[in-house]
Amino acid sequence: MLQFKNVTKTFNGPQGTVTALNNISFTVNPGEVVAVRGPSGCGKSTLLLTAGSLLRPTTGDVQIGEADPYALPQNGRSALRTETIGFVFQQFHLVPYLSVIDNILLPSVVKKAEDAKERAQQLLNRFGMEHRAHHVPAQLSIGERQRTALARALFNNPKLLLADEPTGNLDPENGEIVIQALKTFAQKGGAVLLVTHDIADCATRTLQMKNGSFV
Ligand SMILES: Nc1ncnc2c1ncn2[C@@H]1O[C@H](COP(=O)(O)OP(=O)(O)OP(=O)(O)O)[C@@H](O)[C@H]1O
Ligand SMILES: [Mg+2]
Repeated sequence: MLQFKNVTKTFNGPQGTVTALNNISFTVNPGEVVAVRGPSGCGKSTLLLTAGSLLRPTTGDVQIGEADPYALPQNGRSALRTETIGFVFQQFHLVPYLSVIDNILLPSVVKKAEDAKERAQQLLNRFGMEHRAHHVPAQLSIGERQRTALARALFNNPKLLLADEPTGNLDPENGEIVIQALKTFAQKGGAVLLVTHDIADCATRTLQMKNGSFV
């Protein structure tokens, strides 16, 4: 579902060059939950953004299913993201002026569906957020924002779920709800790549990162 071949990402700035990803190769297959671990600044979020067709690598190839996202024109790449990828960002990126339910419904703006409201409501219930449906993100706890972001990522039934520390701010009970959601997603044939500092007991494989490489 996801394949990296010799991917390198460097950032050039006035302070010099930072190599965030250094010749990374790996795959994530349907049904797998792959956890990425490693110290702060080692390149985990850069890896996820590159996998999510949101950040073009400096060199190397990324493949999502049969597609090379970075060879597609921008609208083709957006369509691929909408159809295929669910993304939970480290900073959530919820829309501040939309309610929880409307944030979850956001993907339906691009991809219309008759049962959209029903599905959004089901996701709300599943993540214990039904009592917060009409609150805006600023009125939510961090853990509630995190669960809203996961509900939104799952809304379009993606094939690939990319999640940056999806349990990082959750108490054990809510952490367990998220972990079960990731497991269920994979059991139904989805592919998961997640960054975590927690013990990833839902992971089928763990990749340890250091200085932009797997060790
Ligand atoms: N847009 C950018 N411009 C310049 N340098 C960047 C940029 N994004 C990331 N970096 C650098 O790339 C390296 C990897 O950053 P990244 O955000 O991937 O780390 P991380 O492993 O996700 O860290 P954390 O656990 O703190 O979230 C860091 O040294 C960071 O400073
Ligand atoms: Mg990060």
